[in-house]
Amino acid sequence: MRFDIITIFPEMFTPVLNESIVKRAQEKKKVAIRVHDLRKYTKDKHKKVDDRPFGGGPGMVMTPQPFFDAVKKIKGRRKAKVVLMSPSGKRLTQKLARELAKQKNLIVLCGHYEGVDERVREKVVDEEVSIGDYVLTGGEIPAMVIIDCVTRLIPGVVGKEASLEDESFERDMLEYPHYTRPANFRGTKVPDVLLSGNHKAISEWRKQQALRVTRRNRPDLIKNK
Ligand code: ADE
Repeated sequence: MRFDIITIFPEMFTPVLNESIVKRAQEKKKVAIRVHDLRKYTKDKHKKVDDRPFGGGPGMVMTPQPFFDAVKKIKGRRKAKVVLMSPSGKRLTQKLARELAKQKNLIVLCGHYEGVDERVREKVVDEEVSIGDYVLTGGEIPAMVIIDCVTRLIPGVVGKEASLEDESFERDMLEYPHYTRPANFRGTKVPDVLLSGNHKAISEWRKQQALRVTRRNRPDLIKNK
């Protein structure tokens, strides 16, 4: 899978792409991630990528030309899905991440200021995605969120694929609590059932706990259960 990120802050991505699982996924050639500076594509002599909104109002709007030209050049003859990071987008969920992980080429546009000229969304973008109901200063951190959650779903990236199946959201449930050594940490003990060796009882306990955690923190997930 290949990601092409189009941003006015390419350096923001360097630390994130060079650590941990995302770094190893690139080394193992499971993903290729290229970060492109939007300003390189502007035809404006001052390298401006934004302008005042028609109709008035506060803030600036990102102009269409650099995005149109950057996507055209980067896409070339390949088929690619173009995603715009924006608080007005469709909410990112584990389900959407799984859909995106099926793509061969993803081009991710990072918006800024008051937004991006609507013609970009109309003519260039296939999907507008938000990472949650809050407003960030730009689409860079959301793009990193997409890279991270999509990369770990690519087969062969996370060691044991079975470990993906049990985790939060895979069945509209949050995860059960985890414990490791020591069995007694400063007086707080690990639940006996986990030390019992009784796999059926352990599985039952985990199911109950997942339900308890989901009811407590995300009751909206279980309205149909
Ligand atoms: N840009 C600013 N806020 C955002 C959000 N919540 N999701 C995606 N892109 C954004």
